[in-house]
Amino acid sequence: MQAEEIERLIKISKERPLMPETYVPWAELATPEDLYLPEVLTSLQGLPIYDTLTPLQKADLGRHEVVQVLYSYGWGEALFCVFMAKFALELPPESPEHRFLIREIIEEYRHQEMFAQAIAQLNGKPLTQTTAHRLSGKISTNLLPADYLFMGSVAVELITDKYGNYARRAPEIYVVLRKVFELHNIEEGRHIHFTKGLLERYTAKAGFIKKSAYSFVILINIHFVRTMYVRKEIYERLGITNADAVFKEAKQNFHKKFSQNCLGDIIKFVDSWGGFNFATRWAWRLLLGAKV
Ligand SMILES: [Fe+2]
Ligand SMILES: [Fe+2]
Repeated sequence: MQAEEIERLIKISKERPLMPETYVPWAELATPEDLYLPEVLTSLQGLPIYDTLTPLQKADLGRHEVVQVLYSYGWGEALFCVFMAKFALELPPESPEHRFLIREIIEEYRHQEMFAQAIAQLNGKPLTQTTAHRLSGKISTNLLPADYLFMGSVAVELITDKYGNYARRAPEIYVVLRKVFELHNIEEGRHIHFTKGLLERYTAKAGFIKKSAYSFVILINIHFVRTMYVRKEIYERLGITNADAVFKEAKQNFHKKFSQNCLGDIIKFVDSWGGFNFATRWAWRLLLGAKV
């Protein structure tokens, strides 16, 4: 990515900052008709059990699941900020990369505060990560080289972008959440643009092994994000009696819907630098049901 292009991104970030305090109409309360997550993104829609739920249970399913989504974003961004702060220390302070990263860190902290406030406003009780999620998050943030972490981060940003696009365009969604997703969507668009530019350098000189490793890092990141959203406890909270069985069905259902609705941009990105080959393709099919 050219220096002028990064300067342009810095300029937009400075001249048109989106402040959660004013951009999101926090004073607006949810109406009884409001939903919290587009139905297509909930874990139960598409299953027979979904049609047996009351409107209140359906809305509550979306509320609990969107809380998981917001919580996962905030957690992922907090980890990524730790890494970016370390990475930025190594860069010449006057360089465009350094100055953009500082803008990105500022924006990511604003996002985390916004997600936390949205969770509080929804009366959310996030279910914290499993030990496996926590460990892999910490280990990868501390040990993985920069190029792999940027790969992982752009993968997660592309997923959040997808969720943002669905939610911001759905008039049935509570306006506070729509605006939260809209703000995030706009700023993440710039982060994705910057990170993709940065990664062009790495992928241009990568050989077969490195490309395969990048592909696996992306795959695992997406698999991890996806598994944070669907949790058995949510069905218990809704008063569904056979929560265990519903959880099993929901996991499969969500897996299928996620592959259909959320993977398009990721697949295009990985394909653009040749990340699908005989060493990686099978794993994408197996873990994410991707048609690659
Ligand atoms: Fe963000
Ligand atoms: Fe970001």
